Amino acid sequence: MKKLLTVMTMAVLTAGTLLLPAQSVTPAAHALQISNSERELPFKAKHAYSTISQLSEAIGPRIAGTAAEKKSALLIASSLRKLKLDVKVQRFGIPDRLEGTLSSAGRDILLQAASGSASTEEQGLTAPLYNAGLGNQKDFTADVKGKIALISRGDLTYYEKAKNAEAAGAKAVIIYNNKESLVPMTPNLSGNKVGIPVVGIKKEDGEALTQQKEATLKLKAFTNQTSQNIIGIKKPKNIKHPDIVYMTAHYDSVPFSPGANDNGSGTSVMLEMARVLKSVPSDKEIRFIAFGAEELGLLGSSHYVDHLSEKELKRSEVNFNLDMVGTSWEKASELYVNTLDGQSNYVWESSHTAAEKIGFDSLSLTQGGSSDHVPFHEAGIDSANFIWGDPETEEVEPWYHTPEDSIEHISKERLQQAGDLVTAAVYEAVKKEKKPKTIKKQMKAKASDIFEDIK
Ligand code: BES
Ligand code: ZN
Repeated sequence: MKKLLTVMTMAVLTAGTLLLPAQSVTPAAHALQISNSERELPFKAKHAYSTISQLSEAIGPRIAGTAAEKKSALLIASSLRKLKLDVKVQRFGIPDRLEGTLSSAGRDILLQAASGSASTEEQGLTAPLYNAGLGNQKDFTADVKGKIALISRGDLTYYEKAKNAEAAGAKAVIIYNNKESLVPMTPNLSGNKVGIPVVGIKKEDGEALTQQKEATLKLKAFTNQTSQNIIGIKKPKNIKHPDIVYMTAHYDSVPFSPGANDNGSGTSVMLEMARVLKSVPSDKEIRFIAFGAEELGLLGSSHYVDHLSEKELKRSEVNFNLDMVGTSWEKASELYVNTLDGQSNYVWESSHTAAEKIGFDSLSLTQGGSSDHVPFHEAGIDSANFIWGDPETEEVEPWYHTPEDSIEHISKERLQQAGDLVTAAVYEAVKKEKKPKTIKKQMKAKASDIFEDIK
């Protein structure tokens, strides 16, 4: 399971100071020193919960480039507009992808297409199935010609299997997993191209197919697709070139996953924070941004940061990113502040101060990338991601990237706690005139310099 790496915890930081009350946060009771009108507007988890329901239940999986992602973008834009923020939509291109269906004996089978493989004709391809074991050269006889090769995962690379099948005259390739999984496997051709369709399916579906005579496969190429970032801006009055504080979250999801926690939760908490913070007086500009296409490799946030002007970059002070802040997994009782290099920065300092003020004692600093705070860090902007994890094992929830990342596994209490803490932390940052000098501007380190295996 996916892990986080702890660097510093509230307990460590506050040991001996006894400043922290031991109880956890009381919803809406945090001591923000703001006016009465603002105190009447506390963070309300029920608002965030209802947005998660809209994103994960009414819309469902929000794969980058799809109509579902666009529908979510509209919903987010209209919420930000209702708050009277200045809303902008920033569109960007995403890599081509293949999508389709597979059926056999009247049953539909979930698939994932290999990127770099071919599509089928419009009407699809119906052909006999040929069992080709692991897909070694010797597994193919002349009999495979014009058939769909059914190959089990293992031993050879996906590319080798697909190449062998193509060379022997197969019309398409279906690779099935050799391990149980909740979603179909994705055959990764490692950047290579194959002249026939190649798809991946679940173990159980592949085993069932070995008993069938034929199958129908349809694969369509989606090219020139776009995704979009939704940006809501709150500008201070009478300040010409204010510093910028960013509140961000991605709203796309992986295929087959309703993405309630990843990242309906972060998106919804961000929108609720926009409602709470829009009337807070500040000399700083706050930008609330919902990023598209994070799951394809931080595409939305990278595009956004790459297109900031030099002037905007100079004004960019700090980025609070929210990704997976609503899990109900009992063990995930620690709220991690995830910085790319594991070092303290303005996000951690503000959060730590806020945690002390509101009596929240489950906050830890950790090292990690894998979300939209990465491009901000690389551009020299203090950034971090907020995410709930298990303090024993440092794992995130078991439903991560599965069809079970659904509203049933969302905790209103955790949404409230994360919302209270991050709202108080952003408040700490926006009320200060300037980022304290003690926090040095980050070195422009690349994620790949820090993590060898970063995607
Ligand atoms: N929400 C996750 C990030 C995450 C998960 C961080 C678990 C830490 C622990 C995010 O949406 C995601 O899945 N990111 C990808 C990387 C991205 C560059 C495609 C990942 O971690 O595989
Ligand atoms: Zn995510």
